[in-house]
Amino acid sequence: MKVVAASFFLFSSLFALPEEFDKQRYNKGEKIFENKCSQCHEKSMPIALLMKNFLEEENKLLNLKAPTGNEISFRLKQQIGHKDDIEFQLEETADFVKDYLYNPNKAKTICLQGVIRHFDTMPSMKGKISEEEIEDVTFFLYFLEGFNGVNEYYHNEEDF
Ligand code: HEC
Repeated sequence: MKVVAASFFLFSSLFALPEEFDKQRYNKGEKIFENKCSQCHEKSMPIALLMKNFLEEENKLLNLKAPTGNEISFRLKQQIGHKDDIEFQLEETADFVKDYLYNPNKAKTICLQGVIRHFDTMPSMKGKISEEEIEDVTFFLYFLEGFNGVNEYYHNEEDF
């Protein structure tokens, strides 16, 4: 019985979402993504398939118009700011996305060269999205992809 209880505890702590997670805000951000980003950005695709598409098949397998939401999610957490402080990193990633959406320039990219070289620079969204909406959509993107290997948490999308 002790073993069962101990392994349950281990399991549930492994899948625990960080306290900064807020489901309502995530859902709000997801709606903004669907309305303003998804005509170019697919939400999520398996990383192995994406790597095959971009690195081996010259984007001819999936013909994507832009990096997917889950790739961006992974890169935001990996490339920007403080990996050990989610609250702070959330602000830092929102600042990056605000700057990128208003003044896009591939020189600032956080994506892999092997991925980004398939795309022209994203059109500016100045006047098409507010700063507050960008904060919410970045919140959604931040929590979209699992935290494995990036932060100490792992989150399973199915658990939402
Ligand atoms: C008209 C098509 C289009 C729309 C709409 C669009 N994007 Fe993009 N986006 C792109 C393309 C193409 C790229 C890759 C080239 C680049 O990075 O500039 C990109 C790249 C990005 C990047 C990565 C920047 C980098 O290179 O590191 C982020 C972050 C991003 N988009 C967020 C968004 C968000 C959030 C929205 C919705 C609010 C959105 N995009 C809407 C086409 C689009």
